[in-house]
Amino acid sequence: MTQSHERLLIIDFGSQVTQLIARRLRELNVYCEIHPYNRVNDAFLRDFAPKAVILSGGPDSVTREGSPRAPEALWSFGVPVLGICYGQQTMMQQLGGMVESGHGTAEFGRAFVTPANGDLSILAGWFEEGREQVWMSHGDHVSQIAPGFEVYGTSPNAPFAVTADVSRNFYAVQFHPEVHHTPKGAKLYENFIKLAGFSGDWTMAGYREQAIAAIREQVGSDHVICGLSGGVDSSVTAILLHEAIGDQLTCVFVDHGLLRKNEAADVVKMFRDNYKIKLIAADESDLFLGALEGVSDPEVKRKTIGKLFIDVFQKYANEIEGAKFLAQGTLYPDVIESVSFSGGPSVTIKSHHNVGGLPEKMGLKLVEPLRELFKDEVRALGRELGLPASFIGRHPFPGPGLAIRCPGEITREKLAILQEADAVYIDQIRKHGLYDEIWQAFAAILPMKTVGVMGDGRTYDYAVAIRAVTSVDGMTADTYPFSHEFLGETMTRIINEVKGVNRVFYDLTSKPPGTIELE
Ligand code: XMP
Repeated sequence: MTQSHERLLIIDFGSQVTQLIARRLRELNVYCEIHPYNRVNDAFLRDFAPKAVILSGGPDSVTREGSPRAPEALWSFGVPVLGICYGQQTMMQQLGGMVESGHGTAEFGRAFVTPANGDLSILAGWFEEGREQVWMSHGDHVSQIAPGFEVYGTSPNAPFAVTADVSRNFYAVQFHPEVHHTPKGAKLYENFIKLAGFSGDWTMAGYREQAIAAIREQVGSDHVICGLSGGVDSSVTAILLHEAIGDQLTCVFVDHGLLRKNEAADVVKMFRDNYKIKLIAADESDLFLGALEGVSDPEVKRKTIGKLFIDVFQKYANEIEGAKFLAQGTLYPDVIESVSFSGGPSVTIKSHHNVGGLPEKMGLKLVEPLRELFKDEVRALGRELGLPASFIGRHPFPGPGLAIRCPGEITREKLAILQEADAVYIDQIRKHGLYDEIWQAFAAILPMKTVGVMGDGRTYDYAVAIRAVTSVDGMTADTYPFSHEFLGETMTRIINEVKGVNRVFYDLTSKPPGTIELE
């Protein structure tokens, strides 16, 4: 995309937390991109034209021959540079200082930095209480700073925790300001971008304008197909494309029969009726549920659904005449080229779970208007485009849908019960104002019937499990601590309102050892 905003370049040396640097900067309305060190040469620097550069941390040792370096041109490029951890060490080494590894130089976890030699602009607002907590994670340390540098902060194991050559605008820290455990880290970044003269021009309103212009330029008068799942990413992609190219866009929404109560109707209503987007809504539930008959193995379920999805999507997409592009809701974390632990560059590009492999198969080119955005920026763009807050804040929903919330064999009867129980449960959560505190909540129907007594009669009905977890990224999760009262009320409502259920379990398992979904 043609860029008109100010840019910051993050040179990646392979740290596990490089993405967090980008997050902190985007929160400050600064546009930045992460590029691996071995892709950034002098020509790249000139073309990218950054207003400032940050050198990330990394797992290698600058004392090892052949270890990564920043491009030499950087030192005379004339923009502020901030080196972090490995970035600090290579900066020192390349500018004439020394780095040592070995016994007694390592420092991992919490450390405290105290000030030295007066004020430094990037530390404005620091040391109000004498010292600041920082997060260290380094094996090597700088043993001699480069000529021109001064020390501004020290920690017990890092006498050069903060150094700078103010006249050249080079700054270097041994710790990781991007992580949560460095509480004043965000302030350090704010100070750095201020001294680099960023105006904070990265806003969603600006992005929207720019993305629309870029889509028009890329697509011209051709036609675009967009797979709509009802999730936030594909919805924002579709609405943005529709603003850019109107009727040159056709969306395809496949109902596999494994969606939540009213979900298919809601998607059609929102996109076709409200946004007036051309939409093929295909009810293929018979096909999917037929193929899943008798299947109880979780992986076979996933593969069956995934394969059918591609076939069905392709069938409908083929009906759209003259389509040249396929739109995808790929996000920035999916396209960042990262430096692998072994030191070599590795490209990690996740294929979209819904339409993986389709563009090549159908000879379509890709339009990916969200590929520069993080998830929360997509939500902000959704708000900018007028998507309702309740829609933007929806919990994640897996591609295979209710299939993986119905352990064992899937039947229409079980799915109908599950949809009702889930709707009551989510309604309860919303009524109690808890929805936004929870990462994901859903009901599952268990592969068993149990005995109960209702009225004067014996019942033999399904058991439902309810699950709610808190999480930051879905990788680990904790059970949400509902009150006993809430759980009791929810149990009563589900059993009273959903025919076919006579028992409710609350799933207390965290992840690990469990997973969020039941399968
Ligand atoms: P688990 O169950 O692995 O889930 O702890 C982590 C997150 O991923 C979602 N999930 C899926 N999403 N296709 C998807 O699109 C899948 O097959 C799938 N399995 C799990 C899950 O909902 C949770 O947010």
